[in-house]
Amino acid sequence: MRVLLTGGMGFIGSHTAVVLLEAGHEVVLYDNLSNSDAAVVDRITEIAGRRPVFIEGDIRDENLLVETLSSRAIEAVIHFAGLKAVGESVEKPLDYYDNNLAGSISLFKAMRSCGVKKLIFSSSSTVYGEPAQLPLTESCPTRKATNPYGRTKLQIEEMLSDLAVADPSLSIVCLRYFNPIGAHPSGLIGEDPNGIPNNLLPYVARVASGRLPELHVYGNDYATPDGTGVRDYIHVMDLAEGHAKALEYASHSRGWTAVNLGCGRGYSVLEVIHAFEKASGRKIPYRLEPRRNGDIAANWCDPSLAARLLGWKASRNIDDMCRDAWNFECRQSARQSHSETSCCK
Ligand code: NAD
Ligand code: UFG
Repeated sequence: MRVLLTGGMGFIGSHTAVVLLEAGHEVVLYDNLSNSDAAVVDRITEIAGRRPVFIEGDIRDENLLVETLSSRAIEAVIHFAGLKAVGESVEKPLDYYDNNLAGSISLFKAMRSCGVKKLIFSSSSTVYGEPAQLPLTESCPTRKATNPYGRTKLQIEEMLSDLAVADPSLSIVCLRYFNPIGAHPSGLIGEDPNGIPNNLLPYVARVASGRLPELHVYGNDYATPDGTGVRDYIHVMDLAEGHAKALEYASHSRGWTAVNLGCGRGYSVLEVIHAFEKASGRKIPYRLEPRRNGDIAANWCDPSLAARLLGWKASRNIDDMCRDAWNFECRQSARQSHSETSCCK
C-alpha cells in the first residue's frame, strides 16, 4: 500500500516506517521536523534497506498535503503528527489546539479532496482520564481530560467518529496507545527528546548514562502495591507492528473503531527503575518527590480487542524494553559526544 505517515520522523512514526518498509509498503514521511531530526530518514533507510520518501511540511499546510496525497497516489494515512508534552499544553494551549486540532482538520480536508479513505490515528490512553475500573476496555467511558493535550486527542477522536457517520465509505482506526518505550534493537532510532525529558523512560536512561544526576519519583502514596504510579508500558516495536496490523484491518473494514494498544499489565515506577538497573548494570539514584499535577495512580488495558480485530498482541517484555532503550541511550550519547566509544560500556 502507498502510505503517508504524518509525523513519520518522530519516535513512533520512525519505528512504524521501518516495519512498513520491511513489509513491502511504499512509505512517504511528512513532517515539519519540529520535534525530530532530518538524519532519521537515513537511519530508517539503514535499518530497512529501503529509502522512504521524506517531505518536509506542516499538516496545517493543506495545499502541500493535497499536492503530496495526489502526486504520490496515497491510499492510506497514519496520522502521528502532533505536539505531545502535557505540561507544555497547559502553558501554551493555543499552540496545541492550533497544531493538533487545526492541523488534523487540515489533514482530513486534504484527504477528503483527494479521496483517501483509510486513516489510522495516534490516540492515547489519556482519553480514559482517571480510570473507574481496570483493566481499561474500549467500552470504558472517555472522560474530560485534565489538560489541553488530552482534550485534543479526545476531540480528534470525536471528530473522526462524526466523519465516519457522514461518509460510510471511510475506514478509521483510533489506536489508543498506553506508554510506548524502548527503541529499535539496532540503536539507530529511539526516543531522544530535546531538553529535560518529561517521560519516565528517557529520564531514567539519561540518569543511567550520567547525562542527568538523579531521577525524581513523583509520588509514593498512591493506592498501588509500592505507592508509585503504575502504567502499561509497551515496546515501540510492538506498537509499530500494531500499526501494520491496523492498516491491514482498515483495508477491508468500514467505519470508526477505537483499539487499545498495550501489554495488558502494569509496572510501577520502582519496578521500572529496577528493570532498567538490571538491563544497564547501572544504579539509578532517585529521590521521592510529591505527586506530579494531573497524574493518575494507575492504568493498564485489556488488549483483547486488538487480538480479535487486528490479530495483534505485544510480544516484548519490560526487560526487552529496558535493554533496547539502554542500547539506544548508549549509542545516542556516543553520537552526540562524537566519541568512537560509548560512555555506557
Ligand atoms: P514525536 O514528537 O516523537 O513525533 C511527532 C512528530 O510529529 C515529530 O517528528 C514532529 O516533528 C512532527 N510534527 C509535530 N507537529 C507537526 C506538524 N504541525 N506538521 C508536521 N509534523 C509535525 O512523538 P511520538 O511519541 O512519536 O508520538 C506520535 C503521536 O503519538 C503523537 O500524536 C502523540 O500525541 C501520540 N502519542 C504518543 C505517546 C507517547 O507516549 N509517545 C502516547 C500516546 C499518544
Ligand atoms: N514519572 C516519575 N518521574 C519522572 C517522569 C515520570 O516518577 O521523571 C512517573 C509518573 O509520575 C508516572 C509514570 O512515571 O507515574 C509514567 O509517567 P510518564 O510521564 O512516562 O507517562 P504518563 O503516563 O504520564 O503519560 C504518557 C504520555 C502521554 C500519554 C500517556 C498515555 O506522556 O502523552 O502516557 O498514553 F497520554
